Amino acid sequence: MVRETNIADKKFVLHISREQIAARIEELAGSICAQYKDKTPHFIVVLNGAAVFAVDLIKALEMQLTVSFVRLSSYHGLASSGHVKTIIGLDDSFVGRPVIIVEDIIDTGKTLYDFLPEVWDKNPSSVNIATFLTKPGALKYAVAADYTAFEIENKFVVGYGLDYNELGRNLPDLYMLAE
Ligand code: XMP
Ligand code: MG
Repeated sequence: MVRETNIADKKFVLHISREQIAARIEELAGSICAQYKDKTPHFIVVLNGAAVFAVDLIKALEMQLTVSFVRLSSYHGLASSGHVKTIIGLDDSFVGRPVIIVEDIIDTGKTLYDFLPEVWDKNPSSVNIATFLTKPGALKYAVAADYTAFEIENKFVVGYGLDYNELGRNLPDLYMLAE
């Protein structure tokens, strides 16, 4: 793994390694299994950013589950545009069942704050949130994750599914914008 990488006009430095990520996912998976074993939860993966985390997470879960994907959009470049659009929406497959929403990062919390009522509208038995990252210093909306892999400072990050103008999602490690 490289300690620094350039994406377009920006320089990023290694922040969390693939080994740290893998170890933390094992821990989260253990907690999720303990809570949901024999409940067959439904995972809603928020595309595009959470795809990489979600794939690793569900492979670590030794239980029956179902999964579907939604596409929401609010972010352009380095700052949130402040409104959220649903591009690929929800189906009805989880009515009466426990849901776990899988996100890449909770930044201001706006995306999930707007999306949660849409999920509750389908009458799941419960809704919990698993997120790869939170930025507690950026939170503006009342959204709390039940499972968080890592808390980071309020700086822009790429890699492990997260992008800078759609680039960098394929980096296996997480990188933070350099000063
Ligand atoms: P909100 O503010 O709605 O933001 O909680 C959540 C969405 O914003 C994106 N986001 C980032 N994407 N690096 C990224 O590549 C970041 O540092 C970052 N911060 C927020 C992300 O898509 C998330 O779903
Ligand atoms: Mg994004």
